[in-house]
Amino acid sequence: MAWTSFPVSKLQGAIRAPGDKSCSHRALMLAGIADGTSEISGLLEGEDVINTAKAMAALGAECEQKGNGRWTIKGVGKAGLTSPAAPLDFGNSGTGSRLMMGLMAGYPIKVKMVGDASLSKRPMNRVITPLEQMGARFEHDGRGMLPLTLHGSATLSPIGFVPEQASAQVKSCVLLAGLNAQGTTRVTEHHPTRDHTEKMLRGFGVDLDVVSADGRRQIVSIEGGQTLQAVDTQIPGDPSSAAFLTAAGLISPAGGVMVEGVMSNETRDGFFRAASMMGADIGAEELGDAAGERLIDMQAVSSGLKGRAIPDYLVASMIDEFPILAVLAAFAEGETTVSGAEELRVKESDRIAAVVAMLRVNGVEVDERKDGFTVQGCGGPPPGGGLVETHHDHRIAMSALVMGTASQKPVSIDDAAMIATSYPDFMAHMTELGADIREG
Ligand code: S3P
Repeated sequence: MAWTSFPVSKLQGAIRAPGDKSCSHRALMLAGIADGTSEISGLLEGEDVINTAKAMAALGAECEQKGNGRWTIKGVGKAGLTSPAAPLDFGNSGTGSRLMMGLMAGYPIKVKMVGDASLSKRPMNRVITPLEQMGARFEHDGRGMLPLTLHGSATLSPIGFVPEQASAQVKSCVLLAGLNAQGTTRVTEHHPTRDHTEKMLRGFGVDLDVVSADGRRQIVSIEGGQTLQAVDTQIPGDPSSAAFLTAAGLISPAGGVMVEGVMSNETRDGFFRAASMMGADIGAEELGDAAGERLIDMQAVSSGLKGRAIPDYLVASMIDEFPILAVLAAFAEGETTVSGAEELRVKESDRIAAVVAMLRVNGVEVDERKDGFTVQGCGGPPPGGGLVETHHDHRIAMSALVMGTASQKPVSIDDAAMIATSYPDFMAHMTELGADIREG
């Protein structure tokens, strides 16, 4: 079902950021294998995270929803995970499926894993390869994609692994398998990625070593056989969801958007740094912390933006934010260039192709390259008027709807259902700010 976002003269208001998706997945997984009962509040109840909760329940954890975003999880502790009776369905979620593979690999269980059309086209060899080196076995059709069957092992060997891609999912998968390996598992990253797995493991009482070498290189080591202790934890607000609201405030002709309770973590804040370099007026106020993360309130007001080359060193910390950055680039004056971002080709969609098509159909000039794109900014509202193909990608859908709030003509998308995978309240929040988004 198509949806259309009509231009409005102003967006204004304050929205509490929804719980962080990455942290929500990890909290469920770690609580599910811990000793005792954890209480989680602020959990993102998007479809991706709910699929992880269902998977943990099918593997033996007791997961109970107590209220809005409040869950108790009784972990399996020493008893360990058990083989589920039916295939685990991870829906649209790369994070859920790849991290769970690592978590499950260290138990002697057999698990069939399936996903939706988009997830079934995403590369899993990046996690299958290290897990096979550790001693897990996989059955698949040779493409290294879902559906597949994992045969875990209670006697995993530790490895030293250097992921080929800058990927927090690969790093986390190997570390979670390392939790149950016989010795010390090490992951070396050349471009450090989001560090939620490391921080959260520590929160559950796991000893973990993080050493930085040669400037950016980072080595994370984990000793197998450690037990996790249940915790009470609050999930911080999602900076990736906040990016859509903030961008809406920046391109709006007037007004201002406040996003409350956003996690401020330097492995996740690349979009805000890039936007500031483009001239965005974004203010931040410290709020304290939650689950070991700093929290801030962010205020974004209508800003005149200038295009620029996005520095490569920001890519990992804004890997999910390129579709919405491209929207800012369309409104900016001058050229914005993104490079070193070939990983975007294997996200929920081929995000380089999808972003380029989104801008072109709305009258914006853009060049596509293998590892990025160059946008010729319109120096104000782009023409709009296009119907954007989302390719089942929530971030393309939300970016296009944000673009429509301030384009010359309305912007439509072919489908909005998949927004619920990461941000079920998106339409309600945008409407509260004054956006005019309608079905059809
Ligand atoms: C995530 C890691 C990133 C990101 C995804 C969430 C995570 O994926 O795109 O939305 O929670 O670890 P990659 O590891 O593939 O870069």
